[in-house]
Parts: sequence; structure tokens; C-alpha cells
Amino acid sequence: MTRPPRRGGRGPGRPAGRQDLRPRPQLDGARLTAYDVLDAVSAREAYANLLLPQLLRERKLDTRDAAFATQLAYGALRARGTLDAVLATLVDRPLGELDPRVLDLLRLGAYQVLDLRVPAHAAVDTTVDLTRAIVGPGPAGLVNAVLRKVATGGDRAAWLERLDASGDERLALATDHPRWVVEAWREALGDESELEAALLADDAAPEVHLVARRVPREQLVEESGGEPGPWSPYAVRLGGGDPGRLAAVRSGAAAVQDEGSQLAALLLARAPLEGPDAAWLDMCAGPGGKSGLLAAVRPAGVRLTAADRAPHRAELVRQALRGEDDVEVLVADGREPPWAPGSFDRVLVDAPCTGLGALRRRPEVRWRRTADDVAPLAELQRDLLAHALTAVRPGGVVAYVTCSPHTAETVAVADAAAARDDVEVLPVAPLFPEVPGMARGDYGQLWPHRHGTDAMFLSLLRRTR
Ligand SMILES: C[S@@+](CC[C@H](N)C(=O)[O-])C[C@H]1O[C@@H](n2cnc3c(N)ncnc32)[C@H](O)[C@@H]1O
Repeated sequence: MTRPPRRGGRGPGRPAGRQDLRPRPQLDGARLTAYDVLDAVSAREAYANLLLPQLLRERKLDTRDAAFATQLAYGALRARGTLDAVLATLVDRPLGELDPRVLDLLRLGAYQVLDLRVPAHAAVDTTVDLTRAIVGPGPAGLVNAVLRKVATGGDRAAWLERLDASGDERLALATDHPRWVVEAWREALGDESELEAALLADDAAPEVHLVARRVPREQLVEESGGEPGPWSPYAVRLGGGDPGRLAAVRSGAAAVQDEGSQLAALLLARAPLEGPDAAWLDMCAGPGGKSGLLAAVRPAGVRLTAADRAPHRAELVRQALRGEDDVEVLVADGREPPWAPGSFDRVLVDAPCTGLGALRRRPEVRWRRTADDVAPLAELQRDLLAHALTAVRPGGVVAYVTCSPHTAETVAVADAAAARDDVEVLPVAPLFPEVPGMARGDYGQLWPHRHGTDAMFLSLLRRTR
């Protein structure tokens, strides 16, 4: 990796209490941008995948610098566990006692040495320059000394040896996952031999998938230069490029949507159903990705109701359904619904969850989430699913899906509902004969390493009476 050209740049608005009015000298634009993302994530829980594109646009970084800034920001955020384990052996106090800006600068520098093999002098000198400009001359000495020791210790493989971790701890450090996620993955996979591949696939940048909603897929393939997705008849996988450039995306006829999410919506549409089939509900619809596909694939005469508790999310659903007839968007809490019991023939519950199945997209989320987040979400999920089973008529179907493979918010939630004497489970895999390796008992589970999708969980329940 060679040193990118030096160029200026300005940080994003700083949080209260951390305002730094010193003028910034000419700094390495890519590294400064990556630092500003790390800082915003630490200081105000920003989402890197939203902030970084905005900074790249504002600062007009050229393609090469933008790619380097992205690699640095996403990589350093994702590798936080390993970076902190290394830094903790070199700093003479708990990392939590460092100025958080200094800690982020150390992470940024250490990541370049450990994972990118940037020559030590470039990684250290540019980080020291950043430290001097952002925090001041005092901490620059500490950063210089610590990063030199990181570089002396070699790359990630050498440091993993030195850290002397074994078992799950080593797997966690080697694959950039917290231990509790490693354990959750193992339980959900049920196959130790795939575990490392699954975790590594979770570190790779996901391909962009499009959904052809109101345009023939072949036309979208042609317009986008992409390939038909292997699983969903509406999916197009894009090799590269900005999907926003496509007329079909700009008009809403197509949209960006992971192929796994497409299968989750198709699960509801494909479920076998006897009797009337005229009213569908998407109970947790915001921002409207699955509602958009449901609206496109429903048979004529079906009315789609899409609800979300959050008004701004409901507004996004409204935009996603723009131009569709016979749809209704509600701001509604699925646990205190405005609809009468038994109103719907099909109900989708795409419940709020930890999002552990989409960690590829949000590099910092694996460190922001904790094991303690799971239980309250699982309680909400059970509640929402119970209300979905009330909302559906006897004989109707409920698809319960999450973007997480964690057993507590997937199998355990569906099993609890299936234990009722008026509910039966409908096997998912037979509805997708074209998708291998998705059966998780009678439920379905997609995986990045097997299917190239987010790790979506799919289940289907019928209310029998
Ligand atoms: C996983 S997201 C749904 C994604 C959406 N189905 C899509 O494909 O675009 C979960 C949604 O549930 C909503 N939500 C959370 N609690 C809810 C509740 N009690 N009732 C209805 N919606 C709720 C959240 O606001 C969030 O928009």
C-alpha cells in the first residue's frame, strides 16, 4: 500500500464537549476521513455506512482515496476487538482511560500495520500527524511510541501468536467477532466445520442486490449490467457501480434489496393457503423493502396493509409504495393494533432484532450490540408474533422472519408460538426447492457463506382455528 497523496479535509460537526477549534494542517484526506468516521461512531453512535458516503461526497476524495478511506474506516471498526487486544498489551493503563480520540487514532494506525501491511513509517507518521492536529502534541508522543511497538510485533498473524489465545477466543480475534457472536453462530449453524468460513464471510463487503419490482428482471439485468440472482426470480446482483445511476431505481420500479430479504417476502406470498386470499398485512414494514416486493407480487385484488410503529419509518414505507394501488400505510404498534382480530389472510412479521445477520453492512454494530440486547428483543418478538397470530384469520398464515440467526430470536420465538394448540408449523424449505442448504429443521436459515445473502431466518406458521 503506498501513501495516498496528501490533501486537506475538515472533520464533521464535533459532539458537544469535544469541540476542537485548532486549525487543521494539510492532512492525509483518506486517513482523516477514516478517523472522522471512527470518532463519530465512538462519540455519538453514528452509523459508518451512512456517514462515510456523505463525507466522501462532501470532501470530493478521488476514487483511490475514497477506496482507501473506506477500507480504513470499515476495517478498523470491524477489527476493534483484535486492535484493542493488541493495544492493551502496549498501553500502561486501561484503554477506557485514554482520551477516546487517542484510542481511535491508535486503532487506525494499528489496523494499517496489522491488516493492511502499510509500511510502518507511513502508518506511524501519518497517525502521529493526525494526532498532533486533532488532539495536540502531548498525545502524539504516546501514539508514536505505541504504534512503533505494534509495528515491531509484526502483522496480525504474528500478534495472534503473541496474544496466545486459544479456542473461541482465538476464533473471535481471527475473524473480528465478539465471542458471544461466535457462540451464537455455532449454535445456529449446528456445524462446527463451517463456523470459521461463516464468520469470515461475515467480514466481506456484500455485493449489491437489486429487486426488479415493476420492471422485468431481464430488462434490469440489461440496464444494470448485473447478473440474475440465483435464488429470487426478482433479484439482480450488481458487480459494481452506483445503483442510484439506474433509471429503474430512480423511478422506484427497482430497488436495492438483499436477495435474502426478497426470499423473506416471497415466503409470505408463496405460503399455501386455503380459502379467501384478499388481505395481507406487513406488521413491521419500515422502511418498506419487503412491502415493496409484496405489493408487486400479490395477485390482483389483494389489499396490502403496511404498518410501522415509528412515524418516520411509516413515511419511508409510503414512499416505497408510491404508485401502488390498493395499499394502506399505517403508523401503528402491532401490539396495540387498530385492526380487528382475524382481519388478514397473510401476515408478515419482520421483527426488530439484533441485526446479527447483516453485520457485513454495518462494521461497528458487532461491537455496539451486546448479549444483553437479545432477551428484551426476544420478548418483543414473541409479543409481536402472538399479535400477528391474532391478526390472521383461522386458516391464515404468518411468516415470522428476522435478520439474525441467533437462536433466541429465531427458532425459540417460532417454537414458542408453535406450542399453541391453534398453530401449526409449515415447512419452509419445500417452498424454495431452488435454494439448497436452507433448512433449519422446519424453518429456514440463509447464510452469507452459503447463499451470498444476509443471514435471514424464515419461519411459517398457520393458525388452525
Ligand atoms: C427489521 S425492521 C423491518 C424491515 C422491513 N420489513 C423492510 O423490509 O424494509 C423492523 C421494523 O419494526 C418496527 N417496529 C418495532 N416495534 C414495532 C411494533 N411494536 N409495532 C410495529 N412496528 C414495530 C421498527 O420501527 C422497524 O421499522
